[in-house]
Amino acid sequence: MSVPKAPPHGLACLALLAACHFPAWAADVNAGAKIAANGGSQGAAACASCHGSNGEGTASFPPLAGQSAGYLERQLHDFAAGRRKAPTMEPNARALTDAEKADVAAYYASLKLPIQSKVGPLPKAKDGNGAWLVERGRWEDGIPACAKCHGPGGTGVGVDFPAIGHLSAAYMQTQVDAWKNKSRQAGPLGLMGSIAQKLSPQDIQDVAAYYQQQHGSAAASH
Ligand code: HEC
Ligand code: HEC
Repeated sequence: MSVPKAPPHGLACLALLAACHFPAWAADVNAGAKIAANGGSQGAAACASCHGSNGEGTASFPPLAGQSAGYLERQLHDFAAGRRKAPTMEPNARALTDAEKADVAAYYASLKLPIQSKVGPLPKAKDGNGAWLVERGRWEDGIPACAKCHGPGGTGVGVDFPAIGHLSAAYMQTQVDAWKNKSRQAGPLGLMGSIAQKLSPQDIQDVAAYYQQQHGSAAASH
């Protein structure tokens, strides 16, 4: 009698992305630090050459320090599989073994996020569009407050909701565009994909400016 086989992990992931969590490697932070500084065993470039020597990011490359390991690892799998398109990043993700992805994600997660959790006062006037979107949302468009998912001050929540309070408006906008043109898969339950459809470039400018005001010099200024 044949026993039905459990689907391989990858297939389960394809079928049910929202429930897709990668196997718990015993991630090695020190090995991850070496990949960040020197590159991977299969030719992945040193992450630091683009993302900064401490994962702080630059004007052209997003910061990685202090994001959750689960989020970072998922992005690396998405780049490698072409679910998130980025010509400079895809070959580097493809050149990392799964263990290296987990190690380097654990390393960046161990670094300090440059911003701290802050509960903003509830805005009273809608002309503060950035504050309104972050703290209250825009329910007539079905947009919950960014803070509901991304946490107070945009510092991130758990493995699924990345920190956004320190991201530059330019990087945020490229991601919103990527969801709009379907070159970035939206991750858990597609939540961010449908929100992105309703965010205008002005909304993104306003949100980034609000976070910058909340966090001062710790937030992205570029
Ligand atoms: C040649 C430059 C370059 C190198 C080297 C590079 N990256 Fe990237 N990385 C990028 C760019 C550009 C993006 C933004 C892509 C986009 O717009 O979606 C990015 C995005 C990312 C993201 C997504 C961040 C987020 O907030 O969603 C992760 C994770 C990441 N890189 C990890 C790494 C790791 C780990 C390495 C080293 C193995 C590495 N990168 C090396 C250019 C690079
Ligand atoms: C219902 C929950 C939810 C709400 C509300 C929400 N987001 Fe997100 N957001 C997510 C999830 C989940 C992700 C991660 C997507 C992925 O894994 O690819 C994300 C990712 C992002 C990213 C990409 C971060 C990176 O490092 O690449 C940006 C930028 C972003 N959200 C901006 C916003 C803004 C601005 C708002 C408010 C207007 C908002 N989000 C509201 C769930 C939400």
